[in-house]
Amino acid sequence: MKTINIAIDGPAGAGKSTIAKMVSKELGYIYVDTGALYRTIALYITENDIADEDIEASLGKAQVSLKFIDGAQRVFLGDRDVSDLIRTPEISMAASRTSAIPAVRAYLFETQQKIARENNIIMDGRDIGTVVLPNADVKIYLTASAEERANRRFKELSEKPDCPTYQEILDDIIKRDYQDMHREIAPLKQAEDAVLVDTTELNLEESAAAIIKIINEKTG
Ligand code: DC
Repeated sequence: MKTINIAIDGPAGAGKSTIAKMVSKELGYIYVDTGALYRTIALYITENDIADEDIEASLGKAQVSLKFIDGAQRVFLGDRDVSDLIRTPEISMAASRTSAIPAVRAYLFETQQKIARENNIIMDGRDIGTVVLPNADVKIYLTASAEERANRRFKELSEKPDCPTYQEILDDIIKRDYQDMHREIAPLKQAEDAVLVDTTELNLEESAAAIIKIINEKTG
């Protein structure tokens, strides 16, 4: 049976994962966060202190896998659930850097395609519509201004101890956008047939509703 694949790409902090989770719940699809795979590879490289020239050879030992527990994605390194450990600013930056390595992308390519072949999914990332699922049924490019993305992240983090300043968050976002958009392999860009959704002026519910409307229009 042919599965339905929805690709959502866009820069860091555009709200992809929160919005994609809302939409997948509404439509009964599985939500796949591919950034978590890149973050897990970055954690593996960081924890094991692997030099750039040794990364390719070491990937075979990494044992990265996704499991869906009560509909929620968890990511594993061997049999260790690292889903929470990968959500630090250090791993964000390391993932952005190591995801530019062709061997890392090649290693995760088949994992992503296999999930899409076997399930109705909403998959988010940077190159889903352009490289991983070029034949996706619906492609969305979700973005918002860098300032608005930094604002949202600052509000999210401001309750926590050691919260970075707004300026530090904005600088990180701009740096990560640049790295993700200018790498040689599979850079972040809008696929030609993707629909642009700019959430700068939209709240989460409005963003999710806009995407559901696009999906319904495209999939009948
Ligand atoms: O979506 P995220 O912030 O969790 O992603 C972390 C990093 O992983 C991001 O800066 C770039 C990389 N990434 C990628 O290159 N391709 C994807 N499909 C998803 C993430």
